[in-house]
Amino acid sequence: MGTAVERFDEKAHQAFDRLGQNRVYEGELLRHRVYTRFLHWMVALFFFLALFSGFGIYLPWLFRWVTPIFGGGPLSRALHPWFGLGFVAFFVLQMLNWIKPMRWTAADTRWLRNLRNVVSGAEKLEPPETGFFNAGQKVQFWEIVAGCVVYLITGIILWAGAGTFGRMSVAVSYVLHDISALMMLGGIFIHIYLSTIGEPGTFHSMTRGAVSEAWAWTFHPAWYKQVTGRDPYQACEEARRRMSQPHS
Ligand code: HEM
Repeated sequence: MGTAVERFDEKAHQAFDRLGQNRVYEGELLRHRVYTRFLHWMVALFFFLALFSGFGIYLPWLFRWVTPIFGGGPLSRALHPWFGLGFVAFFVLQMLNWIKPMRWTAADTRWLRNLRNVVSGAEKLEPPETGFFNAGQKVQFWEIVAGCVVYLITGIILWAGAGTFGRMSVAVSYVLHDISALMMLGGIFIHIYLSTIGEPGTFHSMTRGAVSEAWAWTFHPAWYKQVTGRDPYQACEEARRRMSQPHS
């Protein structure tokens, strides 16, 4: 018997699996089911809608070219809070969906301490204890959760205005709202780079749902071991040997 969240999540997975497909070929593993992918792309869509409509409000002289997409300046301003609410609502569902694999562990603390070697390339292999998500992905996830709380509180204050909350609250909210947006934007640039060119093979996980076994043992060895029951380093060595054998 799982928790209410797990039961809700599994029901949603089953419903979405009937609507869409998880395409997993030989030598691949299923990573993200249809429901997870749907939520992720809804989060991304509403994030960019909120971001671009927000740019027109934040720096109108610089982003005058964006506002016509949303029907002009006043309409951008009117739509922005609704895009923001859409983003937060879908991210709340994504949070329930990923709450388990995003739990922080002692291995994540060790991963973060070793971050300098990972970034500099001195560390060639992912530590064997890296599970479904690594600590960098978890940090970003929890930063987005914190960002959603900030957007929601400050956004409501800005929406209602100084008449309801007072000028001071509105001024502080502007600053916090914009800092949160800029921080998240910086993180998303890194995220898009790593999910596409930085770690090749990752993007498939969010399109048809699958990744190659080689991707799994390279970037998430403990997850590979958990789903296949095989040792990731041994599997990698065997694949290497097979590839170096001359074809008959
Ligand atoms: C439009 C460009 C985007 C691309 C190409 C992209 C791609 C991906 C991919 C391939 C994954 C799966 C990674 C894995 O399984 O290890 C993923 C995960 C994730 N995405 Fe995106 N994403 C994009 C935009 C966004 C946006 C806008 C957000 C939120 C504001 C977001 C939040 C996340 C989170 C929290 C995860 C799980 C942890 C992680 O992998 O960092 N993504 N994304």
